[in-house]
Amino acid sequence: MNPEHLPEFYANVIDSVGDGVIVLDRAGNVILINPVAEEVAGVSRRVTIGQPFATLFKNDLPLLEIVAKSAASGMSISDYENIILRKSGRLTPLSVTASPLLLADGTCAGTIVLLRDLTNIRELEEAVRKADRLSALGTLAAGLAHEIKNPLGGIRGAAQLLEMELAEDDELRECTQVVLKEVQRVNRIVEELLDLASPRRLKLVGVNLHKILAHIVFLQQQATEGKSLTFQRHLDPSLPAILADEGRLTQLFLNLVKNAVEAVGESGTIEISSRIVSEYSMTQKGERRSRMVAIEISDDGNGMTPEELENLFTPFYTTKERGTGLGLAICQKIVAEHRGMIRVDSQAGKGTTFTILLPCVQ
Ligand SMILES: Nc1ncnc2c1ncn2[C@@H]1O[C@H](COP(=O)(O)OP(=O)(O)O)[C@@H](O)[C@H]1O
Ligand SMILES: [Mg+2]
Repeated sequence: MNPEHLPEFYANVIDSVGDGVIVLDRAGNVILINPVAEEVAGVSRRVTIGQPFATLFKNDLPLLEIVAKSAASGMSISDYENIILRKSGRLTPLSVTASPLLLADGTCAGTIVLLRDLTNIRELEEAVRKADRLSALGTLAAGLAHEIKNPLGGIRGAAQLLEMELAEDDELRECTQVVLKEVQRVNRIVEELLDLASPRRLKLVGVNLHKILAHIVFLQQQATEGKSLTFQRHLDPSLPAILADEGRLTQLFLNLVKNAVEAVGESGTIEISSRIVSEYSMTQKGERRSRMVAIEISDDGNGMTPEELENLFTPFYTTKERGTGLGLAICQKIVAEHRGMIRVDSQAGKGTTFTILLPCVQ
């Protein structure tokens, strides 16, 4: 390389480093800042060059402390935990290293400050903690559910006996009816919880999705007789049978169609469509790329606010008086078991579309 190009080359090297680099002179003024540092610290090169570092970051005392300590001691000092940069109302967790800038003869010409944005790492850590918490909760919930099922059976049996003892027109019959109905409700919550918490082995067979959907629509049409609901189907006849667990997929689509029915209330339209999507191909280790089938379930019901959308898959989140809030958590689990994806698109007052993508494994 032509030696004349060397300074430019070094400048390029520093600009291309994935971490933020800020270089200070001995007086603590910024003499160099790379684009990542501009981005991380939320400052621009134009206004920082030549300015005292201590003024630019006057609100970030822990950062200044590290830089001052390194300058005073001539040693490299790092903090991977405690630095949080406040910039334009946003808090950015940082890992910071300050090192003396040493010249060939050993004299110190300033300080090099390395900044790394930890936002993504912190988010990942949070996701892992959440998953841990959920799996511990799952074990607990499964244990609890088992414990509840036995006494529940006793209560049901006793209520049924009591009912048999009562005369046809006895007013107390209303009470036994309430007991039985509520027992059934608790039973449903417990069953769903067990479903969510226990690991499953899929029974894979060739599944005709259209057959499942037709069956579900038939059942829902019967169940909603008297309401003015329209069920529309736009099914791609070329959709192949896919390798999946038929029972689990039935449960998945039934949950979604039921939610759609509940969302539209007394009248509305529920649309079910299927197609093959080639743009979503998944690569699994050792498997060839596969296309996906997409099943869409749309309704023109009440839709959801952004806040509702955020909580949608959280177990026990429900806006319904008699909902369990477990349906979509189970759906999400079933889709994950099949290595698929679930998407939601919803607008308050307009309606909702759930899209299920499943690998087209045959
Ligand atoms: N198609 C839909 N339209 C509007 N809101 C929906 C729809 N599907 C689900 N939701 C919202 O998500 C919540 C959770 O759904 P789910 O997990 O099935 O529990 P549940 O049906 O027992 O309430 C519902 O209470 C509702 O607020
Ligand atoms: Mg539901």
